[in-house]
Amino acid sequence: MEVLRSLLFVPGNREDMLQKSLQLTPDILVPDMEDSVPISEKTAARDCIRNFLSSFQMENRKVIPRINSLTTGILEEDLVAIVGKGILGVSVGKIDSPWEIGQISKLLDSLERKTCVPIGSTKLIPWIETARGVLNAGAICQSSPRILGVAFGAEDFTADMGVPRSEEGEELFFARTSVALAARAARIEALDTPYVNFRDLDGLKDESIKARRLGFRGKFAIHPGQITVINDSFSPSPEEINYAREVLGAIKEAELQGKGATSLDGKMIDAPVVERARKLLVIAEIIEENS
Ligand code: COA
Ligand code: MG
Repeated sequence: MEVLRSLLFVPGNREDMLQKSLQLTPDILVPDMEDSVPISEKTAARDCIRNFLSSFQMENRKVIPRINSLTTGILEEDLVAIVGKGILGVSVGKIDSPWEIGQISKLLDSLERKTCVPIGSTKLIPWIETARGVLNAGAICQSSPRILGVAFGAEDFTADMGVPRSEEGEELFFARTSVALAARAARIEALDTPYVNFRDLDGLKDESIKARRLGFRGKFAIHPGQITVINDSFSPSPEEINYAREVLGAIKEAELQGKGATSLDGKMIDAPVVERARKLLVIAEIIEENS
């Protein structure tokens, strides 16, 4: 299982930022060929990212470049530049249906064959960021074993809906929750949209904690200053870990007395509470092992 708390976008046409990203330690680096790159720079960005892949590999970095979406007509060229060069996967925006995942998977199969990497080893992180994508989220998430996680994109989603973005984000609630549910049903990770007010770290923390409560396991970053807040927000806190251990201790004792339910600090402890505690401890352990 991959730790996918923080995924940092780096605009692919910014050699200075790609260079800087070698010193940064998000869980995943996401060199971007899509919306942070103007049309006139697409080729330069692709070349620049390709040239950086060996440096990322030497530094043992987990890299999932974001490529241009299927409708742009340049997705295949983007893939040719990066598949088989030490990437963990690719991220693709504006996925509306499982059919698109099938098309991308076929291209990946053939490029993996050509570059002699195991078939299926290049993972996928599709973006769900249109009304159609949200309605098809369950089918999209279950459409390929390559899918490691699914990203919810608030900017494109509100653009597609033709609605403004509010501070409270109520226009996003149904879509965001749908993506979290679809991810869980497919046993993949839900990854939340970037927080665009990148200087506001309190706002970022607040939004990250709320996303985690909905079931998200990580969030995209657009600025290096966001990485620590995101990592902390998506890691179980020491208090949560202690409580989970107490829950397991309490239920063990109850079981010895032949009881399936017990209480801790005035709250009932039964099977689902124990299940939540176990899951939290598994996540904490995986994060600990990877840090
Ligand atoms: N990756 C790597 N380095 C980054 C970075 C990123 N995403 N964002 C900023 N930096 C670097 C800057 O180059 C600067 O480096 P320096 O100190 O060596 O000059 C340093 O971090 C501090 O940056 P700062 O001056 O605070 O921000 P900025 O004004 O240079 O950049 C943004 C602000 C928003 C333009 C920039 O963060 C960015 O382009 N982010 C990515 C946007 C993106 O990918 N969007 C698409 C997905 S929604
Ligand atoms: Mg988008």
